[in-house]
Amino acid sequence: MTFNPLQERGIPLDRQLRNWRELNVDPIDPDHSDPYTRCRVIAMNGIEVEAVMFSHQFARHCPDPLVKQQLAEVRYIEAQQQKVVNWLLPGLASVLETTLAYEQVAVDLTAWVARMEPDPYLKQAYQFGVLEDFDHLYRYANLFEMIEHRKAEKIVDGLTEVMPGRPTYLHHRHPIDNVRAPYDRSVTEPISKLHALTIMAAEQQTMNFYMNVGPTYMEPIARQLYQEIGLIEEEHVTHYESLVDPGETWWEMLLNHEYNECYLYHSFMETESDPKVKAVWELHLNMELEHLRIAAELFKRHDGRDPEAVVAPYLPAPVTFEPNKEYVRELLATQIDYTTIGTGYVQEMHERFEKLQASIHGGEKPPSELVIDENRAKSGREYRHQTEGEHPVASLRGIR
Ligand SMILES: [Fe+2]
Ligand SMILES: [Fe+2]
Ligand SMILES: [Fe+2]
Ligand SMILES: [Fe+2]
Repeated sequence: MTFNPLQERGIPLDRQLRNWRELNVDPIDPDHSDPYTRCRVIAMNGIEVEAVMFSHQFARHCPDPLVKQQLAEVRYIEAQQQKVVNWLLPGLASVLETTLAYEQVAVDLTAWVARMEPDPYLKQAYQFGVLEDFDHLYRYANLFEMIEHRKAEKIVDGLTEVMPGRPTYLHHRHPIDNVRAPYDRSVTEPISKLHALTIMAAEQQTMNFYMNVGPTYMEPIARQLYQEIGLIEEEHVTHYESLVDPGETWWEMLLNHEYNECYLYHSFMETESDPKVKAVWELHLNMELEHLRIAAELFKRHDGRDPEAVVAPYLPAPVTFEPNKEYVRELLATQIDYTTIGTGYVQEMHERFEKLQASIHGGEKPPSELVIDENRAKSGREYRHQTEGEHPVASLRGIR
């Protein structure tokens, strides 16, 4: 059954505003809910934060007072949606627990997108990035065991493995090597535009999260690890945002944003196991259909083109959270030693990379290495959770 969001009727904008009682949603159960429900909540929060921030940027570049008012009206609803979505997270979860879930989102969402992406250059960008967030999960899992005396497998529920990826200290690249080449908006598949927006938004919220929660820790190693990985998330935002064609007009970008919101709410509505959360996805989808209609009207009027010429005629297959263990293992076995040079990839270290490495590490071990050393000293071994056997890279089988 195909679903064309441009042909569907949503909730009129003047009926989308919610009162305090409606905004006060029940959070998901921290102990008994599906870990992938939490992943969908986190991913969708990233999308709503991007919707709000994008609309602010648009407004700051928009001289037309009527369009500014229209943007403000829709944006206020996006802000309410963000509140509802992010407030589904339970207050009981610690910051580190939520951090593990953020990295699980980065691993399983990026791996899924990499599997589905039709363009080989874009696919490579996702395959490259996923091995880094996979390693972050492992570093944070060791911190979690050390300072909270708990195991990450309880959080990721064995759906995602926890073991070394591309070592975090090697993620610090020269900034110019984080800039990829964009897709061409006139020839790329519509699904590729949606993928790029989704992963960019997810990485952006991770960057924002670490930059704010990092200093709330008292333990020096925790403060340091959030600094280090927070900087890498900045690199990831640079990496993914540069995939988007900068030649898209503001109207086209708005259209793509609203279309992507429809796509993700529809996807999550189709795949959600928690009925209360599913009801939120369904309600928000019906709001987004109206946002999309408004964006399409603006696009027709100001861009002068037909929206159908830019977005997909019907929604692609739903974005699905599911284990990607074998896929990630295959990438570990083949791409672990990749780094970037210019807009491409190489397996050898190059001068610009080595120079940046020397400057940032200053001849010392970075926090991402210290956290493993410290946990080994404290727990007698490092923390891993390998459900599918030995590490695919011999040199990372390590001391168990
Ligand atoms: Fe939204
Ligand atoms: Fe990460
Ligand atoms: Fe990341
Ligand atoms: Fe929206």
